[in-house]
Amino acid sequence: MQAILAVLVVVLLVLARGGAAADEFMFTKFARENVTTTGTAVVTSSGLLQLTNETNERFGHGFYPLPVRFKNTSTGAPLSFSTTFVVAIVPRYTDAHGHGMAFALAPSVAIPGAVAGKNLGLFNTSDNEGQARSEIVAVELDTALDEEFEDIDDNHVGVDVNSLRSVNSTTARFVDVRTYKFANLSLVSGNLLQVWIQYDGASTRLEVMVSPAGVPRPAGALVSCTVNLSSVVADDTYVGFSGANGAAVSSHYVLGWSFRLGGGRAPDLDLSKLPPLPSSKSKKTPLPMLLLATALLLAVVVLILVSAAVTVFVVRRRRFAEEEEDWEIEYGPHRISYKDLHAATRGFRDVVGAGGFGRVYHGVLPRSGAEVAVKKISHDSRQGLREFVSEIASMSRLRHRNLVQLLGYCRRQGELVLVYDYMVNGSLDKHLFTAGQPALSWEQRAKIVRGVAAGLLYLHEGWEQVVVHRDIKAGNVLLDAEMNGKLSDFGLALLYDHGSNPQTTRIVGTIGYLAPEMSKTGRATTNTDVFAFGAFLLEVACGRRPTENSDNADSPGLVDLVLECWKGGRIKDAMDPRIDKFDEDDLELVLKLGLLCSHPDPRRRPSMRQVVQMLEGAAPVPETMPEDLGSSGRIFGYNESFDEFVTMFPTTSEITTVTTQPSSSNSDEQ
Ligand SMILES: *[C@@H]1O[C@H](CO)[C@@H](O)[C@H](O)[C@H]1NC(C)=O
Ligand SMILES: *[C@@H]1O[C@H](CO)[C@@H](O)[C@H](O)[C@H]1NC(C)=O
Ligand SMILES: *[C@@H]1O[C@H](CO)[C@@H](O)[C@H](O)[C@H]1NC(C)=O
Ligand SMILES: *[C@@H]1O[C@H](CO)[C@@H](O)[C@H](O)[C@H]1NC(C)=O
Ligand SMILES: *[C@@H]1O[C@H](CO)[C@@H](O)[C@H](O)[C@H]1NC(C)=O
Repeated sequence: MQAILAVLVVVLLVLARGGAAADEFMFTKFARENVTTTGTAVVTSSGLLQLTNETNERFGHGFYPLPVRFKNTSTGAPLSFSTTFVVAIVPRYTDAHGHGMAFALAPSVAIPGAVAGKNLGLFNTSDNEGQARSEIVAVELDTALDEEFEDIDDNHVGVDVNSLRSVNSTTARFVDVRTYKFANLSLVSGNLLQVWIQYDGASTRLEVMVSPAGVPRPAGALVSCTVNLSSVVADDTYVGFSGANGAAVSSHYVLGWSFRLGGGRAPDLDLSKLPPLPSSKSKKTPLPMLLLATALLLAVVVLILVSAAVTVFVVRRRRFAEEEEDWEIEYGPHRISYKDLHAATRGFRDVVGAGGFGRVYHGVLPRSGAEVAVKKISHDSRQGLREFVSEIASMSRLRHRNLVQLLGYCRRQGELVLVYDYMVNGSLDKHLFTAGQPALSWEQRAKIVRGVAAGLLYLHEGWEQVVVHRDIKAGNVLLDAEMNGKLSDFGLALLYDHGSNPQTTRIVGTIGYLAPEMSKTGRATTNTDVFAFGAFLLEVACGRRPTENSDNADSPGLVDLVLECWKGGRIKDAMDPRIDKFDEDDLELVLKLGLLCSHPDPRRRPSMRQVVQMLEGAAPVPETMPEDLGSSGRIFGYNESFDEFVTMFPTTSEITTVTTQPSSSNSDEQ
């Protein structure tokens, strides 16, 4: 009896399963025999089920070839099922794409009258009129908004029963496990999506879960509804997929699929085993993309060209960059562009002189063809720059044939460039003190000292303001082609109004030319210039510097030597031995005038006007005895108090700077 029963059960079971499908199947790679395809659908060589192929208004189906029975044959109760699949919807253009795809239960693999586009290839046009009984249940991934079917948006998941008017639908989204918040999910991103569908026969509840592939199955359903499959689908129902395009197109792919009928879940898909999508857009690049790429390429090329041009421009600009401040505007006409100077000096090549301040270059101005000396002064600070402001200010406005004419200037970062008339014969001290140079004749010397005296007189009396040069010496006298002496280097010049007193200021100048009273008064006056001019006269006549050895305070200065000669009645012995022919009276005049100008008492010194008159023979040299000019030679050297202020520099150095009142030094400039 038991054996008969057992046989009966086996027979019944075999009958029940008949030509029907297995309870469970899984594809991680499709073979052509595994699905029945219609329309545009194909199984690709890589194992993808490709439903559509970017042909307009077409659809494609891929169904499991054997029918599935979703109801219990004896009770008629619906059977549970579970399925999961991975799909990708790749739009041709992100802003214009096909209608979407669906997982479907359908009575046949070729649905009669099915239409593409919004009907998703599953329904015919009369299905949507109300009473249709197409026996179709579908889960749609709808990427188009069809108001006719009351679609909520163009990116939703819905359940369709016999009609495209979804029973229920929700915008595609998923819970991001990192934030525990809903995140939007684009169905047409071209990215892989995984869908889970769970149907419980007892409760007739259908639940749909969606997430990006790789994200675990969501716990809660995105869309759910109740549907009694027993009363909807046919006894022999086919399961599979449909994809449809309209005027715009996408490619709809199914990469893997697992299905289980009865209780429990469909087997998990091993995502790593899925076939790859065709490498995105290895196909034809759509025209807009091509245009975009071309435009982008052009833009990049243009950008590169422009930035190259800008770089060249900036480099050139920086190379020739200049600075300008308000105070310079009044000297505007004297400004010469750095570019012109660069050209004039052929890139600052011919160095004709150098000193503590910087270098002097020879140049030829392009327009006038005038020979110029270009002096480049580095200044690290504003203070350093201010040193030369007065030079620009005064020299650009002073005009005298015994002053070196400043033609213009240029200022840039850390650099001041001054342009002068070029003096062919260089500085006087070179001729006086450089061994090997042909000695200057007395005639030449006499002409030079008279020229310098005239220039200095102009500075003191001939201009609208009193200009104290503050650094008269052979080194600052330049010689033109005719050996005319011209006073140069107004870097230390001090200006004040006629009739007023100059303010106290820093003591500047060169050792040997500094008047002794400066250490007490702190003032540079025309008298202190006269003192320096006296030293200059003796220097030119004797061919010796005022102090031969500045390190040795005991060594007699030039004044003492000349005084000694005079006391001995042989003042002419002080003369430069290199002079062979000379006018005795003139030599004596120059030497005595030199001593007179070097008088330690400023009130006893002549003015430059008197000096010029005496040199021209228009006025006699006052009868003086050497004893009048100071009982002690020490007066002419440096006394101790003076040494305290003076920072010792070699006599050849450009400037000796001593600060007596640092706090007031700024306001005292000019
Ligand atoms: C799919 O087809 C291949 C080739 O015919 C076959 O080996 C495989 O078993 C099939 N897979 C399923 C799940 O039917
Ligand atoms: C798309 O599929 C249809 C039908 O199979 C076919 O006629 C057409 O040539 C295919 N188009 C492309 C671009 O593969
Ligand atoms: C549409 O489908 C219904 C079944 O749901 C069928 O009766 C009807 O004939 C179909 N219409 C066309 C035009 O194929
Ligand atoms: C998700 O999409 C909706 C509708 O398009 C939009 O209103 C919302 O801002 C989006 N949320 C995020 C986080 O992008
Ligand atoms: C589903 O429909 C079938 C046939 O129409 C019926 O026998 C069954 O009771 C229904 N099940 C539920 C849960 O409503």
